[in-house]
Amino acid sequence: MDNDSCRIIAIVNHKGGVGKTTTTINLGTALAKLKKKVLLIDMDPGAHATYGLGILAHRRERTVYDLMRGRAPVNEIKVEIALDQENLDLVPASIELAEAEVQLSGLPGREFLLKEALNEVHSYDYIFIDCPPSLAVLTLNAMVAAREIFIPLQTEYLAMQGLGKLLETVKIVKHRLNRDLEITGVLATRYDKRKILNREVVNRIKEHFGEKVFDVRIRENISLAESPSHGLTIFEYFPGSYGAEDYMALAKEVLNRGKNGRKEKTRSSGSAQLD
Ligand SMILES: Nc1ncnc2c1ncn2[C@@H]1O[C@H](COP(=O)(O)OP(=O)(O)OP(=O)(O)O)[C@@H](O)[C@H]1O
Ligand SMILES: [Mg+2]
Repeated sequence: MDNDSCRIIAIVNHKGGVGKTTTTINLGTALAKLKKKVLLIDMDPGAHATYGLGILAHRRERTVYDLMRGRAPVNEIKVEIALDQENLDLVPASIELAEAEVQLSGLPGREFLLKEALNEVHSYDYIFIDCPPSLAVLTLNAMVAAREIFIPLQTEYLAMQGLGKLLETVKIVKHRLNRDLEITGVLATRYDKRKILNREVVNRIKEHFGEKVFDVRIRENISLAESPSHGLTIFEYFPGSYGAEDYMALAKEVLNRGKNGRKEKTRSSGSAQLD
């Protein structure tokens, strides 16, 4: 993989329902609309990104599991998502991936399977990996294959709870498995500016993560919740929605910030202060 031209970004948070899949699908689509070539990888046995893009996961003959086992390359597994003219591909998941955790557990080098499978992939500007709500072997594979991590955080009570474990895992992966790994983006999701609590949570997130926090916040928006059940991205389902506006603004911020993920100088991630 030519790492200089392709950004590989794992969307990680072991807390469930914080907007990982929504962000993978809609940030990926927004970047494709900005003429970037984008690959989405569904690493969740729940296959939410796959279903959310209108792909019937249980009918897929080949999935990310086959990719990880070296049974077929990305080119043979990927599905082209039918947007207008954009370049958006998906490596789908299926429930079969749940068995993978068990089967892979005895395999030496099990954390490197996705990375190895992506070695031959040269033709994307962005690869986003949608992780499951866990820090087990599938998420570890994503963290080893990626250079960057984006962490979505729902702007609600207890948003930061358990984050210490995630940051500790990133530290260990960086130390033992992938020294290039960096958290380059923290995204506030389901934000409602009318709620004082939401504003307070964003302030706390900024205290911990500083410049890594995206200026763009994803507002609470019913269309974002509805669109996956129609198998559509927000840009097809309701292009005039807040959701479409926010994810397009986020895509532009991601482009503008570039790889180091910061507007200014580095600040520590503050892991020591979190539980
Ligand atoms: N900004 C938003 N406004 C309203 N609903 C949202 C928003 N973002 C996500 N949702 C909804 O919240 C739920 C959780 O979002 P999503 O599936 O993206 O989270 P996740 O972190 O991928 O969850 P999991 O850990 O289960 O994979 C979904 O029903 C989604 O449609
Ligand atoms: Mg998800």
